[in-house]
Amino acid sequence: MSKTYASFVSIGAYAPEKILDNKMLEEMVDTSDEWITKRTGIKTRHIAADNEYTSDMGVKACEKAIERSGLSKEAIDLVMCATVTPDYFNMPSTACIISDKLGIHNVQAFDISAACSGFVYLLSIAKAFIESGMKKNVLIVGSEKFSSIVDYSDRGTCILFGDGAGAAIISATSDKTKAIMDVHASADGSYGDFLVTPAPGSVHPASQKVLDEGLNFVKMKGNETFKLAVKTLTQDVKNILKHNAIESHQIKHFVPHQANYRIIKAVGDALKFDDEQIVLTVDKYGNTSAASIPMAINDIYESGRLKTGDLMLLDTFGGGLTWASALLTFQGK
Ligand code: COA
Repeated sequence: MSKTYASFVSIGAYAPEKILDNKMLEEMVDTSDEWITKRTGIKTRHIAADNEYTSDMGVKACEKAIERSGLSKEAIDLVMCATVTPDYFNMPSTACIISDKLGIHNVQAFDISAACSGFVYLLSIAKAFIESGMKKNVLIVGSEKFSSIVDYSDRGTCILFGDGAGAAIISATSDKTKAIMDVHASADGSYGDFLVTPAPGSVHPASQKVLDEGLNFVKMKGNETFKLAVKTLTQDVKNILKHNAIESHQIKHFVPHQANYRIIKAVGDALKFDDEQIVLTVDKYGNTSAASIPMAINDIYESGRLKTGDLMLLDTFGGGLTWASALLTFQGK
């Protein structure tokens, strides 16, 4: 019997209409456009409307990915969503809500929590489901309303994050040349306190104390996270390239997690990537966590830079701590 491979066949994304720029942040906290631009490379982020939820953004990204795959909704047999800002903590899952809004029923659907590494984690799960023969067409979506857990009086975090969603269809193929070549995903929970949203959860269930102390907002050890991100992202890429006997110059699009331009630059330099190889969207979207990588892929798709067969290297890092990388060709049209 011929082997089954998983292929990345389409991409879609959505960014909400409202824009929060650095000048607006100057009015909110003690910061400046110059500081933010120099330290992070971020100029703007998109912010969801009050009545626009993680599932709504996810649905818009999924609709594009489904349409571009040429598949009917009936052909999708698994829906997975990566998010740390689900519609509800934690039932029903955002994947269930997205499936319902898309009109996909009686199909397995669930969320995963891997923070910014979520989308690449989903790729590894989709690949395993497909290669095992259990599923044929998997819809994966990273969607975040990060603004719902950001404290807009904390200048250390509020300048970084934005909202958005990105989705892809991963389909079965017998053609090895179209396969997702490799996905590495890993974690080290001993660094869990670098990025944490303390509440609500079983440690701190919702209470007046949670609200008074702002435990519902994301807390970050920025500088420590920065240093570990550069080290881990660089090592992760070295490992996956070596494991697959690929040189960095063979990569058409290096798509790193869009957290901070200085992190991307340091990793790009260490790996000797040219500027044309590095995909950058952090200036306009900020860090959109699990949506960051698929939003960046969608950007090069919509601008016409991403062509069928192009070799992509994805590299991400996030709370947990988690990290992941993937080597794959784009098989969309
Ligand atoms: N505006 C102006 N000053 C700011 C500021 C802001 N928005 N945020 C922090 N500062 C100040 C600090 O208070 C500190 O002042 P001090 O020297 O008087 O104490 C100074 O700038 C330096 O702070 P530091 O935290 O060392 O700056 P940094 O160069 O590390 O930049 C981040 C801060 C948050 C931009 C950076 O650490 C970062 O991007 N970290 C990684 C974040 C990340 O990737 N998170 C998600 C991972 S998925």
